[in-house]
Amino acid sequence: MEEPPMIDRPANDTTTGGRAAVGTKPGDVQPADVRPADLAIGIDFGGSGIKGAVVDVRTGQLVGNRLRIPTPQPSVPDEVVGVMDELVRHLVAPWDPRDGDAFPVGVGLPAAIRNGVTLTAANIDSAWIGFAAEQEMEFAMRRTVAAGNDADVAGLAEIRLGAGRYQRGLVFVLTIGTGIGSALFIDGRLVPNTELGHLVVDGRDAEERVAESARARLGLNWREWAAGFDAYLHELERLFWPDLFILGGGASKRADNYLSFLTVKTPIALATFRNNAGIVGGALIAHERRARNAAAAAATATAAGESSR
Ligand code: BGC
Repeated sequence: MEEPPMIDRPANDTTTGGRAAVGTKPGDVQPADVRPADLAIGIDFGGSGIKGAVVDVRTGQLVGNRLRIPTPQPSVPDEVVGVMDELVRHLVAPWDPRDGDAFPVGVGLPAAIRNGVTLTAANIDSAWIGFAAEQEMEFAMRRTVAAGNDADVAGLAEIRLGAGRYQRGLVFVLTIGTGIGSALFIDGRLVPNTELGHLVVDGRDAEERVAESARARLGLNWREWAAGFDAYLHELERLFWPDLFILGGGASKRADNYLSFLTVKTPIALATFRNNAGIVGGALIAHERRARNAAAAAATATAAGESSR
């Protein structure tokens, strides 16, 4: 049986009901402030949960509730896409259907992805390798869908609207969760699919030692875990000479436990959007895709008009 989505918010949050106002938190955008054309849905497909929210792409603020459904096990594409479709249906439900129909969706997936096709599957079912993710999600959700690597997508949110805004030079956004995701930016431009969580450090795939999931699996305290993470950052520093590390993912919420143990020279910032960066970045790529599709459709219409004259 399908589990209903959980509203992912503090217990003391109030649910107000009504158009897009469900569970808005203090500081969240209020419905009167938002223009539907600036809204998009971001979805973050993680090892343990699939999370989504409506986002105001001008600011990166979540509008209404963040919903979460546990990742199906095994995490085969059909099941996961079904869960995403369910999330989207819940997210658009409070909106006027005319606005809701327009909501594009952007998804961050824990895989290298090119032209909408997933190419790897480190912490997800191997059926994702070679899966035409974007096309299949568009088909299931019947709306515009853009897909990207989860760390790349989270990184975009930070570079455009968060901790990496106005930052020149070479910036790494690292997401620390079930896996380690890396996003590399040069003067604000993304170099996609870097997959540096799998850098071999001390003869081992770094992710096996420094992902947040590894801390629990290996029974490490924060100091012990931080020693491994620090060694990993030193390796990135030695190879790339970055100007800034931005730390995101689940572990960015608990940075107080380990930041003081890190010894790299590169400045470190925490992701402004913390673990929501993937959702915010998803909304950004969705919004861009819709604009690109609209521009392409307008160009085609103009060309057709000119040739019929
Ligand atoms: C995957 C990456 C992903 C990262 C974070 C790694 O195991 O290979 O594609 O970005 O986990 O989810």
